[in-house]
Amino acid sequence: MTDAAHDRPEVPGFDGGTDLVGVPDRSRWFHRLRSPHQTRSFDRSHPITVRPGGFAYPANPHAILGKAAGRWGRPGCPGDRRGSPPVPAADGGHDDRPHHPTLGHRQELSAAELDRAGLLYADTNVVISRFAIFLPADELGEPRPVVVRAGAVIGPFAVVHGGTTLNGQARIEEHVVIGKPELGYAVGSIRPGAGGGTVIGAGAVVRSRAVVYADVEIGENTLIGHHTLLRTAVRVGADAQLGHHLTVERATRIGRDVRCSPGSHITSSTVLADRVFLGAGVRTINDKTLSWRDPHREPTLVAPRFDIGAKVGTGCVVLAGVTIGEHALVGAGSLVTHDIPPGALAYGHPARVHGEVR
Ligand SMILES: CC(C)(COP(=O)(O)OP(=O)(O)OC[C@H]1O[C@@H](n2cnc3c(N)ncnc32)[C@H](O)[C@@H]1OP(=O)(O)O)[C@@H](O)C(=O)NCCC(=O)NCCS
Repeated sequence: MTDAAHDRPEVPGFDGGTDLVGVPDRSRWFHRLRSPHQTRSFDRSHPITVRPGGFAYPANPHAILGKAAGRWGRPGCPGDRRGSPPVPAADGGHDDRPHHPTLGHRQELSAAELDRAGLLYADTNVVISRFAIFLPADELGEPRPVVVRAGAVIGPFAVVHGGTTLNGQARIEEHVVIGKPELGYAVGSIRPGAGGGTVIGAGAVVRSRAVVYADVEIGENTLIGHHTLLRTAVRVGADAQLGHHLTVERATRIGRDVRCSPGSHITSSTVLADRVFLGAGVRTINDKTLSWRDPHREPTLVAPRFDIGAKVGTGCVVLAGVTIGEHALVGAGSLVTHDIPPGALAYGHPARVHGEVR
């Protein structure tokens, strides 16, 4: 096991301070880490207006995007093609943001540019590195706003795609990729690169170099380790701890208080119920016949399931369709070929029940 205490966020010198939104100060990220008193003056070369408690408004939304190639509706308004949740005006009043021209896909924007394009909805008191990059449009050219709630932090060289919401105090470390549209072959079909709503829960931490695809939801105070990959439509509950170097495939459901030690492969559509514990290097399987792109066979994918409180030791291999019952314990290095009953102690090659969990 790794030491959980090392995985909690520590930001020396970060006082949650008085920064305005959206305009990246040239030195803020690093200086605030050293001392809040060293923060340089605010860069007002691209002015924005911040409503009380509320969102950034573009000084000139067309300045960045150039000539209008078309219009789309505001989120939640008639004509909205983005599929993003409605974002109300901070004061509950009329949202008078202008309509915007269509962004070309792959257009990279800084936070200030995103703000001026009217696609950054940020509370006060957020910290966004001037080296963070925003890609608001998906591969289909569909732009979505980025929402950053109070106290959230986006580190240097993070890449944040449109449709991402960072809830309060969420922390995205350097070189993280968030909200990446899925492009190419996966689970029987070609994915066109459509973006989606990606939500990072309040207080959650995404460690440097993790990659989180579009349409992923991460619960409050959950931690995603270095180099961990969460593919499209993954859900992770609150207070979970996913260690580094995990691969979590499409549509996997992970409950609250789940602990995954580093280096596991969790195949698509796996269910890890609340309080499941996986040791390091667990391998899960959902395709018994290895039928990837087989022209003569439709793949029958049946993911394993881990019921509430199940514990699976380091180095186990869990075959397709197997259920590990509630509070069962599977010994390290086991090959699990059959269901393990609730509360059972099982281990071996293949795993056999040897008793009950005491
Ligand atoms: C399965 C486990 C819980 C059994 O613990 P235990 O009940 O105390 O069992 P013991 O150590 O007394 O061993 C009993 C017998 O089972 C065998 N055994 C124990 N664990 C085994 C395993 N994982 N696979 C195969 N055999 C195992 C022992 O060799 C011993 O056999 P013997 O009587 O012929 O010598 C434990 O060995 C284990 O694998 N825990 C998982 C730890 C882990 O992966 N943690 C991950 C986070 S770091």
